Amino acid sequence: MKRLGVNIDHIATLRNARGEFHPDPITAAKFVRKAGADSITIHLREDRRHINNNDAKKICSINNLLVNLEISTNPEIVKIALKIKPNYICIVPENRKEITTEGGLNLKKNKIKIKNIISLFKKKNIRTSLFIDPNIDDVKISKEIKSDCIEIHTGRLANLIKSKKKYQKELNRVKKCSKIAKEIGLEVHAGHGLDYKTTKVLTKINQIEEFNIGHYLIGESIFFGLLKVIKNFKKILKK
Ligand code: PXP
Repeated sequence: MKRLGVNIDHIATLRNARGEFHPDPITAAKFVRKAGADSITIHLREDRRHINNNDAKKICSINNLLVNLEISTNPEIVKIALKIKPNYICIVPENRKEITTEGGLNLKKNKIKIKNIISLFKKKNIRTSLFIDPNIDDVKISKEIKSDCIEIHTGRLANLIKSKKKYQKELNRVKKCSKIAKEIGLEVHAGHGLDYKTTKVLTKINQIEEFNIGHYLIGESIFFGLLKVIKNFKKILKK
């Protein structure tokens, strides 16, 4: 059974649209766990456009909830993450003007900086992951700088599938990276742009153990409810 991580940033986006307290991401985190998700993901962005420091702190202190905190390499964010101690961190690139995370990390350029950040989290027994594009060089660097996991950016693949274009080449890239990553001892995750269909396509890759899904899952919940949509995703991940 592959694991499902639910990204609840969008709950905070909705709350922030009113600048009040509802819907509450802390309640959402507890609900998502009850509904059967294996972990929750939050991204503490530098501009705090959705999750804020207080949300992150409270969510990380909920008992029996596995929290995957996405962070950039910004020293202030790294410092907060080390203090609030999530179970997992995933280092992602961040660009102020982007609507969502647009691509994987530039590991060649930021190797030393990211290596140092990984070692800080490893000292606190926090699982580390790097959000990378499906390319073999980045898989190898991830291992070299001692990350525990990689999360493959599936945005390009998801866009090709959704727009009914040929996606086999991109899928093969994801497959190859997953295989090599597993062989060299990295745990493999996938995320970005995933819906039911794209998730189903990726479940055929045995090496992928965890899926982190946000926008589609929360959007679909408007029509069918979080409980039902999480159950649907779990069913897909069982196969
Ligand atoms: N994984 C990572 C590392 C991300 O940055 C995001 C987007 O915040 C996701 C997964 C979820 O992507 P989506 O919201 O498109 O499902």
